[in-house]
Amino acid sequence: MTLDDFIATAKAAATADSAALDIRNALNELVSNHETLAQTVPLHNDDIDEVLFEDDTLTVMLCETTPGVDQAPHDHQLQTMIGIIDGAEVHRFFQRTADGIVPAKGRTITAGDVLSMTPDAIHAIGAPGPEQCRAVHVYLGRIATVERSLFHPETLAEEPLTIERYAEFARPVTGAT
Ligand SMILES: [Fe+2]
Repeated sequence: MTLDDFIATAKAAATADSAALDIRNALNELVSNHETLAQTVPLHNDDIDEVLFEDDTLTVMLCETTPGVDQAPHDHQLQTMIGIIDGAEVHRFFQRTADGIVPAKGRTITAGDVLSMTPDAIHAIGAPGPEQCRAVHVYLGRIATVERSLFHPETLAEEPLTIERYAEFARPVTGAT
């Protein structure tokens, strides 16, 4: 399956009751072929989120994550699926409590893996390196227009997510796990 095939399949599936499962299965099929895929998608060697497709039911992005930066915790308010093309993403997860959010068990996903997150999931990502991470990020809706939450990297205080604040909250990796 090519990236274009995946996008066509995801568009067709996005309004079905089984959209999350169907698109997850297609994403699994796409990244199962990650070595070939890695040779056919562009490599920017920069932190980019390139929108490959978006409408009100679906967003597909090609995301590159440069090692050495811990990004800030945030939510999506949409069902989210991530498939890794090459490299790895470290996901730190957080849970809501009456007083805000607290860290939960994390997970590292590598080439060929798919991670699915419910709309209320809160995560923070980074790339453990040494190589650039490339991944396909899929959202069941138009992620650019969704009102979402961002959390301060040290205090974990919640505020509305903006691109500017997200960039401001990025921190160099300190080696802490
Ligand atoms: Fe995210």
